[in-house]
Amino acid sequence: MKTKYLLSDEQIPRHWYNVLPDLPAPPAPVLHPATLKPVTPDDLAPLFPMALIEQEVSMQREIPIPDEIREALARWRPSPLYRARGFEKAIGTRSRIYYKYEGLSPAGSHKPNTAVAQAFYNAKAGVRRLATETGAGQWGSALAYGGQLFGLQVTVYMVRVSYEQKPYRRSMMHTWGAEVFPSPSDRTNCGRAILRETPSSTGSLGIAISEAVEDAATHDDTKYALGSVLNHVILHQTVIGLEAQEQMKMAGDYPDVVIGCHGGGSNFSGIAFPFLRDKLHGKSVRLLAAEPASCPSLTKGTYTFDYGDTARMAPIVKMHTLGHDFVPPGIHAGGLRYHGASPLVSLLVDQGLVQAVAFMQRPCFESAVLFARSEGIIAAPESSHAIRAALEEAKRADEEGKERVILFNLSGHGHFDLAAYDAYFAGKLEDFDYPREAVERSMAKLRWRCNAIAARARGARTSR
Ligand SMILES: Cc1ncc(COP(=O)(O)O)c(C=O)c1O
Repeated sequence: MKTKYLLSDEQIPRHWYNVLPDLPAPPAPVLHPATLKPVTPDDLAPLFPMALIEQEVSMQREIPIPDEIREALARWRPSPLYRARGFEKAIGTRSRIYYKYEGLSPAGSHKPNTAVAQAFYNAKAGVRRLATETGAGQWGSALAYGGQLFGLQVTVYMVRVSYEQKPYRRSMMHTWGAEVFPSPSDRTNCGRAILRETPSSTGSLGIAISEAVEDAATHDDTKYALGSVLNHVILHQTVIGLEAQEQMKMAGDYPDVVIGCHGGGSNFSGIAFPFLRDKLHGKSVRLLAAEPASCPSLTKGTYTFDYGDTARMAPIVKMHTLGHDFVPPGIHAGGLRYHGASPLVSLLVDQGLVQAVAFMQRPCFESAVLFARSEGIIAAPESSHAIRAALEEAKRADEEGKERVILFNLSGHGHFDLAAYDAYFAGKLEDFDYPREAVERSMAKLRWRCNAIAARARGARTSR
């Protein structure tokens, strides 16, 4: 009755898997937010070190992981793969469920996989400080840790609703030496403008990104770090899926479906993209992204060009979006409250290679409680969406009289989210419907820009 599949330190992947050369269609160009022209490496240089800009556009399928990064990763990688025997029994399913557990990293999620890589490349380029946004605090704490490891100062703009809901994430960031401000804040022009218009703004990832980008763009010694969405972030997360492939071999199984929750797309892509490579080579495997019904960019968003942030300072990318000034309801899965999605995942959804599903937060918590009681691990509210998806896949297989192999990414633990569990037990957790009117308002504002942006983009397909 084997329960966990472990790899040795030497088996930490030596290369990241870059999906770009394997895409079924060329990615759309990334556009400059002011000129609407395709961005050049020079445009991005105020925000990112050149090594990361190169990774963003690289067509090399396997990119070597520097020893310094592998050493840093070795503190928690390879992460274990578990067979969820207790959860299977609790569901009463005939399917076999496996999960890759990313909650053993110092910050408790998958985010340090890219935080240490980004901190390493920035430190190597002589950068002194990093500015970033964070939703639930997982990314902010991961970057605070990564910055500490490579001698960088870190400034975090934390979405206000999470800043208030999750004080201990702040404490973690402080412990690792970072400074943390609730966003919108009065430290940036865009934060002040939003506070003037909506003094009680709960904030959003889009707003916090604007503040961090403005901070980096206005300070010579500072660069910006993003915890998801971008190609290089997804690249760094592929260690998850590469390890999982080895571990599934040890288990003598291969997944019928690979699941990850979806905010900006990095943990989903991290586990799914190495399996996508198999799929493109003829393997039968479904890839399923699970997102919140209150912020359903993949299932209800429009696939179009939009700004990555609320104040329209970040580059414009083609993605599934709900509109850059859409502020999602304050669900507890703060890390999934992003108006857009990774351009790579968006393209693959558009091409039918990735599927998406959306859930309300209460059924997710219900599944996470069942999981905690049967497997022991208390999941992050974000990860509970993947648990829910795995449970529904198993139940569907049973109804169809099938036995499936289900693999999901348990992206983090919920030890700092226990107030959300308390709210669930007290019956105080609200299920937010799809906020149709707010999305329509935001998309209407975007629409008039879209045509102009798309027209200019048509002439520039190869810019990336
Ligand atoms: C635990 C956890 N899982 C998932 C996510 C979603 O992010 P992404 O879609 O980039 O993996 C977050 C974001 O903060 C998170 O903290």
